[in-house]
Amino acid sequence: MEFVYFLGRFHVLALHLPLGILVLAVVLEVLVRFPRFRGLQPALSPTWIAGAVTAILTVILGLMHATESGFQDSDAVDAHKTAGILLALSACLIALFRTRLSPAPALKGALGAAYARVQPLWAAGGVVDRSYGRLWAVGAAVVMALMFVTGHLGGNLTHGDTYLVQYAPKPVRRLAGISAERDPRPRPKDLASADLYLDVVAPAIHQRCDGCHNDSKTSGGLSVADHAALMKGGEKGPVIVPGDPARSDLFRRITLPSSHADYMPKDGKTPLTADEVAAVGAWIRAGAPKEGAVGALKIATAAQGPIARAAGLAGDDQGGGDLGGGPALPSVPAPDQATVTAMETNGFIVRPIAPKSGLVDVDFTARRAITDEDLARLAKLKSQVRKLNLRRAQLTDAQLKTLAGFDNLAVLRLDDNPVTDAGVAALSGLKNLESLNLVGTKVTDGGVSSISALPRLQRLYVWQTGATKAGVEKLAAARPELFVDFGLTAADVPPPGPVVPALN
Ligand code: HEC
Repeated sequence: MEFVYFLGRFHVLALHLPLGILVLAVVLEVLVRFPRFRGLQPALSPTWIAGAVTAILTVILGLMHATESGFQDSDAVDAHKTAGILLALSACLIALFRTRLSPAPALKGALGAAYARVQPLWAAGGVVDRSYGRLWAVGAAVVMALMFVTGHLGGNLTHGDTYLVQYAPKPVRRLAGISAERDPRPRPKDLASADLYLDVVAPAIHQRCDGCHNDSKTSGGLSVADHAALMKGGEKGPVIVPGDPARSDLFRRITLPSSHADYMPKDGKTPLTADEVAAVGAWIRAGAPKEGAVGALKIATAAQGPIARAAGLAGDDQGGGDLGGGPALPSVPAPDQATVTAMETNGFIVRPIAPKSGLVDVDFTARRAITDEDLARLAKLKSQVRKLNLRRAQLTDAQLKTLAGFDNLAVLRLDDNPVTDAGVAALSGLKNLESLNLVGTKVTDGGVSSISALPRLQRLYVWQTGATKAGVEKLAAARPELFVDFGLTAADVPPPGPVVPALN
């Protein structure tokens, strides 16, 4: 089957051959009516034959392509198929009518006799030639029309049905049935005035889901063409439950592990970014309104950074990398150089985050346990540290308390340290913490729930810990905009296929 898919994909390449050749055939048909171009007459038959043959090949590849999943149940595919087959048939018929047979073929026996009987009909000036001479324009018009229809229907399948006119002038877009909701919008001035659905959620969903969920290709019965279609849902009913991301099938599908069979977008298509997913979650939580500025809706603080980034309002140009969206980075005095030097000779790497900001990114890289002395130096940078990596530092709960006053800390890696819930509780005052990695620690559900109160937390990594799936699900329900990475569980991994014994 895979080989059929492989060949089938060449359909999108091969189709350009009949397209070009058939247009050329029609142009030739018109030209030969002018005395100047009469000499082109002998080219007509071979051109139509080439058009017909390549059209048949394209149809065959197209039928193979259609066996791929994601196309099967769609009416749009059937319409495209029918138009394509009709086009190939018309081209064959015209090629048949356009072919003039010469009287002296080197054929003997029964075949020769049959040829001799048919030849006068197909000869230049014969019945077929004369009839076609009168009806040629009909043939050309049918071929052109079918080519337009087939191409248009095919284009809709690959690009969504508004691809062609997406950037057309407004009246053209209205004519094409594009909802006003999808008109280009000016870039919002700031986060508070950005419209959560129109400026953030809709563009992301249109970009990533349109291909399979538009008005003509409604996979699973779902179209994301506009707010009304989105709220209507798919075959299994509504996919958005306003106010309740946890019960919204759409949100469930975009937050599954990407290996899950229900994960969207399907077939390895580019997914929404983590920020866009968080924005969708916040939008559903806010009641999935058709319009409404972020400032007017009640949006959790933690969701504002992701929404700002998804709206393109906070890039990483502040040097924050994958963090620090929303409010501008705090400005702090540069770190004390003597302390930095002492740290660097003791296994730390300290990097400035942005040219003019005093904020730093700190890594502890020594292959030994971190000492209280190390932590005392680190504490001198407590308002400067933005990112901190203490992976495998053999950090204890008591030592972890040192970090309690790190006001500007946004990203903290504590993976593979023997810390427990008691130690993690000391982090509950980190009001700017956005990402926390607790993988391979001794933390349990208790620690996870104390962490959940952190106002800006967006990402939490807790696999290989004492945390349970139930505990993580409880957290996810309480904080839908929070991305919790719990690793893959048995339920997420598709069951293995049948075991085939080796043959040798
Ligand atoms: C490559 C094609 C493809 C893309 C891209 C895609 N989907 Fe789907 N989607 C499908 C197919 C096929 C189904 C039906 C099968 C199923 O339910 O898994 C489906 C079903 C769904 C359903 C369930 C509808 C119902 O009621 O049964 C939801 C919700 C959904 N998709 C959301 C999305 C979202 C959100 C995106 C964009 C992030 C997206 N899809 C992108 C192919 C796609």
